[in-house]
Amino acid sequence: MSFSTLALLLVLFGALCLFRLQNHNKNGRKMPPGPFPLPIIGNLHMIGKLPHQSLHHLAKRYGPIMSVLLGRVPTIVVSSPAAAELFLRTHDAVFSGRPKLQISKYLTYGPKGVVFSEYGPYWRTVRKWFSLHLVSASRVESFAPVRKEELSSLVESLREAETAGETVDLSRKVSKVIEVIMSRVIFGRSMDDQIEFKPLIEEAMNIAGAFNLSDFLPFLAPLDLQGLTRRLKRTSNDLHAFFDKIIDEHEQGTKHEEQKPYTDFVNVLVSLLDTPMNPKDEAQESIIDRKNIKAIMVDMVAASFDTTTTAIEWTLSELLRHPRVMAGLQQELERVVGRNRMVEESDLPKLTCLDMVIKESFRLHPVAPFLIPHESTEDIIVNGYFIPKKSRIMVNTWSMGRDRKVWSDDAEEFFPERFKDGNIDLRGHDFELIPFGSGRRGCPGMQLGLCTMRLIIAQLVHCFDWELPDGMLPDELDMTEKFGLSLPRANHLIAKPTYRILG
Ligand code: HEM
Repeated sequence: MSFSTLALLLVLFGALCLFRLQNHNKNGRKMPPGPFPLPIIGNLHMIGKLPHQSLHHLAKRYGPIMSVLLGRVPTIVVSSPAAAELFLRTHDAVFSGRPKLQISKYLTYGPKGVVFSEYGPYWRTVRKWFSLHLVSASRVESFAPVRKEELSSLVESLREAETAGETVDLSRKVSKVIEVIMSRVIFGRSMDDQIEFKPLIEEAMNIAGAFNLSDFLPFLAPLDLQGLTRRLKRTSNDLHAFFDKIIDEHEQGTKHEEQKPYTDFVNVLVSLLDTPMNPKDEAQESIIDRKNIKAIMVDMVAASFDTTTTAIEWTLSELLRHPRVMAGLQQELERVVGRNRMVEESDLPKLTCLDMVIKESFRLHPVAPFLIPHESTEDIIVNGYFIPKKSRIMVNTWSMGRDRKVWSDDAEEFFPERFKDGNIDLRGHDFELIPFGSGRRGCPGMQLGLCTMRLIIAQLVHCFDWELPDGMLPDELDMTEKFGLSLPRANHLIAKPTYRILG
């Protein structure tokens, strides 16, 4: 070995040790164990196309509280229910921050919505506002006629496909019905006549789901090497201009408003325009303006379209792969609903098998495998480990759903009966299963998401028998995942419907 090679190796080794020290031993305090970070990129080279899987494998080696350096961002990966409870319940207040990401800088004005707001008074007020005025139980119930109408149209279109002997792209059908239902709930009408809407939303979601180097190596942000910031600025401007048009329409009255038995979200938001954000704030320093409203509109679209669609798509995929479970669910529906009519929302509380199927699907296919990244707001010791302020916290719910210590040796199997004794819920109290997160930052739209999802799955399974195309066997169905804003199927789900009820 030449002297220069040896010198180079020594310098590299020194740099690695320095980074390791920085990462694992901050000011002499013990940080969670984790893999060796490289200079500049840290552990980014260890993260593949499916980051939840890469980090799942690393956590098997380093444990349920693991420290990795993603570019310049110190990150703690949490991969067991007990560890998740420490971060989301015991020390929830410290871990309720959100990192400042490029996406929120532009899309939600830096951010003025709920999802990426810093933990503090602003977030608290907007979130309370969101929960009270937009997604309360009574409001979710008031949208029942919209769900019923749009589901009837979906069933009708599937019957037409059957008559024509066609297979259907179930992923597309589900995504379309969610888009229409949620658009009517949020904007007061379906966006079918707004040709710019769909491509704008798609572009915003694509950018939001992309791996943005600037979020991990901030010194590269001015170079915008991936061109994402340019796309983000353009899309944000177009989307805000489009949302301005919708707000104008709502302000001008009822241009597109048919007689509705409910009030859409934008109407509620517009009625709050120019009022104080916090009614108790006597100085009235923060007044609700258009930027607040547009940021919340972005949040609602981003938080509801993809999540609900993806959750339904995976549940239907698992049912198609497990005819035994599909038959069991159809039997339950026959018992509760009968064969002469479609499912009504009032049937849903009686469908216990449906609930087990949905839990099992969320266990194996959490829509947000890392939740939404949290950030620590101060230095803290957790489980004996030092976690510095501004660490990013990624709770790997995908990994938690596959933990054999929790779910036994058949953890990889789809077996809804494991929830039969009903002692694990999915609403954030039982840390084994937290598809909606838990604690202060848990999903406020859970009720709306769950209700929509349960009704659509129940209706599709009750009204139709489903067959995979071209004689494909159930266990041949491809279940590859695609990582992005959510974790959908990589390939669309295609199946052939046969109508099975008499009504
Ligand atoms: C099946 C559907 C849904 C799933 C699986 C889901 C899941 C989640 C998850 C995992 C989080 C992050 C929790 C955390 O960071 O700890 C979240 C946050 C959020 N969700 Fe949902 N969600 C769904 C539907 C909805 C709907 C329909 C809405 C509203 C229209 C909504 C609004 C939000 C908001 C505003 C946040 C951010 C809360 C905050 O930062 O304080 N979600 N959701």
